[in-house]
Amino acid sequence: MSTNYRNIPKVTTHVLQEMKLRGEKVAMLTAYDYSFAKILDGAGIDVILVGDSASNVMAGYTSTLPITLNEMIYHASSVVRAVKRALVVVDMPFGTYQGNSKEALCSAIRIMKESGADAVKLEGGKEVLESVDRILSAGIPVMGHLGLTPQSIHKFGTYVVRATTEDEASKLVDDAHVLSRAGCFSIVLEKIPAKLAARVTSEIKIPVIGIGAGREVDGQVLVLHDMLGITLDFSPRFLRRYNNLYEEIKGSVSSYINDVKSLDFPNEREQY
Ligand code: KIV
Repeated sequence: MSTNYRNIPKVTTHVLQEMKLRGEKVAMLTAYDYSFAKILDGAGIDVILVGDSASNVMAGYTSTLPITLNEMIYHASSVVRAVKRALVVVDMPFGTYQGNSKEALCSAIRIMKESGADAVKLEGGKEVLESVDRILSAGIPVMGHLGLTPQSIHKFGTYVVRATTEDEASKLVDDAHVLSRAGCFSIVLEKIPAKLAARVTSEIKIPVIGIGAGREVDGQVLVLHDMLGITLDFSPRFLRRYNNLYEEIKGSVSSYINDVKSLDFPNEREQY
């Protein structure tokens, strides 16, 4: 009997695993606040990522590095209050898990306890394995993130496609196996060749969510503000824009300004 995943009352990590086994694609988007999270959840999104891309699209920084643990917890708890069905995953911000695994566990516990989220995500492979192990051993589900890892931008210096050389590709495949064997429930692959993403997806048992990683993965993720056309200065090839909210909102605000200045707003019916 086939399962209609849209009717599932709550998406869990086990549901995602089952979706992979049955070939049902996972739809994931970022959100950082209550109002957008409510819309996404109402529309039936499977996973909401409270991404550290909040550093860019919410706070206006040029990288994901400055956002703090407290700020991520604030965004995550706003999202959690809105969500009934989607699995809520929260990015561990830069500097909260790379130093040592005890600090990583404390950061992950704070995220889970103070926001009420379902899981955490962190970037890297073998280098962060000790942190991953320790967080998992506390019963906290972990999503990995390989390929273009924006928290390492200063090491690489550019946001170009990753894992295009044989060495890089083979490290990425090894890291994916390491994270899967450690017990991560899923991994994100960002901006890597589609063929390589397809290979990883077929080799590991956990769901692989792609962003700029082609279609032969188990699901897709995009940054909400990019796909809605709120941010206009970021146009990688993998980004499909579903709206032009920057222009639409600007148009609404212009109309409001005109209405106020011309005494059209408020009218008789809009006052007491
Ligand atoms: O922070 C984020 O939005 C992300 C996605 C790009 C996967 O990590």
